Amino acid sequence: MKLIVNPSQNLTGRVTLPGDKSISHRALLLGAMADGVTTARNWLNAGVTARMVDCVRALGVAVDIEPTGPGRATLTVHGRGLAGFQPPAEPLFCGGSATTMRFLMGLLATQPFTAVVDGHAGLRRRPMERIAQPLRQMGATIETTDGHAPLTITGARLAGIEYEMPVASAQLQTALLLAALGAEGPVTLRQPGPARDHTLRMLRGMGVELTDAAGVITFNPVGFRLQPLDFTVPGDMSAAAFLLVTALTTPGSTIELAGVNTNFTRTGLLDMLQAMGGTIELNGAREQAGEPVADLRVQAGPLAGVEVCGEVVVRMIDEFPVFTVAALHAAGQTLVRDAAELRLKESDRIAVVVEEFGKLGAAITAHPDGFEISGPQQLHGGQVRSHRDHRLAMSLAVAGLSATEPVVIDDADELHESFPGFVETLQTLGADIRWQG
Ligand code: S3P
Repeated sequence: MKLIVNPSQNLTGRVTLPGDKSISHRALLLGAMADGVTTARNWLNAGVTARMVDCVRALGVAVDIEPTGPGRATLTVHGRGLAGFQPPAEPLFCGGSATTMRFLMGLLATQPFTAVVDGHAGLRRRPMERIAQPLRQMGATIETTDGHAPLTITGARLAGIEYEMPVASAQLQTALLLAALGAEGPVTLRQPGPARDHTLRMLRGMGVELTDAAGVITFNPVGFRLQPLDFTVPGDMSAAAFLLVTALTTPGSTIELAGVNTNFTRTGLLDMLQAMGGTIELNGAREQAGEPVADLRVQAGPLAGVEVCGEVVVRMIDEFPVFTVAALHAAGQTLVRDAAELRLKESDRIAVVVEEFGKLGAAITAHPDGFEISGPQQLHGGQVRSHRDHRLAMSLAVAGLSATEPVVIDDADELHESFPGFVETLQTLGADIRWQG
């Protein structure tokens, strides 16, 4: 479907965000591995998590989803313990969700059967060997297709592992922790930098004793049973990101975002926008589901260019498409480095950002590990496409709100993968945005 975005201004209001995507995935899969019933409210009910639900059900787990609003539901998972899964009758299809595929690799590595895992063309181009290789080292049999999906996984009684992770990836860390839950010896993972730590927090909440100091995670999993959870998922910082940049770059706007997850491993964009001079207040800091949460208040205003490199890159790894909109508004130079991982996401996010924002008049210079923008640059209207990347679709919509003419985004319904209420939320704030066809 096409999304039509017209120039808008004075967006105001207070919104609550759908539940965090990463925490929602973990609640489902760890809930399935627990002994008892897990309940998660404000759970993200979107395309990416629907794929995980299908796969978990195909492994014999009962999952109930009671919708509570656009993109939200109360999730109930009837956990089967670490050893209660059934062999799936068909290949497990992960759609475009790398999180689903990589987390399943960790779980399936511990199960005494063979399963095939696959996804659509976009997911088949993403690297899986980085997960397969350490799981093989622990004793699982994993065949990839030249390092990619489709994958054939035969689980085993796994050995412990001491492993130096080549990338600071929370998906890799989580896949290894899931496998480690069924391992027969101690596990030590060394991470080269901070990656999102939701799995560690959730496992602690489920009764697992582990240590995490200076990037070294250790635990001795023998005989663990996971206690089920009952909690409310905090609002997704990666969904809030679109509204943060909308508020900063759409003239006359003030937007309040209630109950957003402010976990340090997720606030890279917030930190960079503040460093650019963005007016963002954090109020009512509190804890929810073992995660820090706050209400954000954001106001439109001038921004200045900034250099983004080093550890902050992983803390905002999903936010670069929408960060581009802020950088185009900023006076002076913005340089992104150390971000080659962007080329391995739902799309090659360096190439598609240059291509699609370029159609709206943006001049962006690509580098192998980032990009460079000299601003401010006023975008004009035009027709662009999502490349089946939900975050690119929403970022182009945010750009359209402050362009001089309408922006038409083809295949924008891809945004339902992670933020089904995105368009309605912007409409509530006063934006001139609508679906066509
Ligand atoms: C995620 C980790 C990140 C992120 C993805 C979700 C997670 O990927 O890009 O959207 O839930 O663990 P990497 O671990 O590959 O960096």
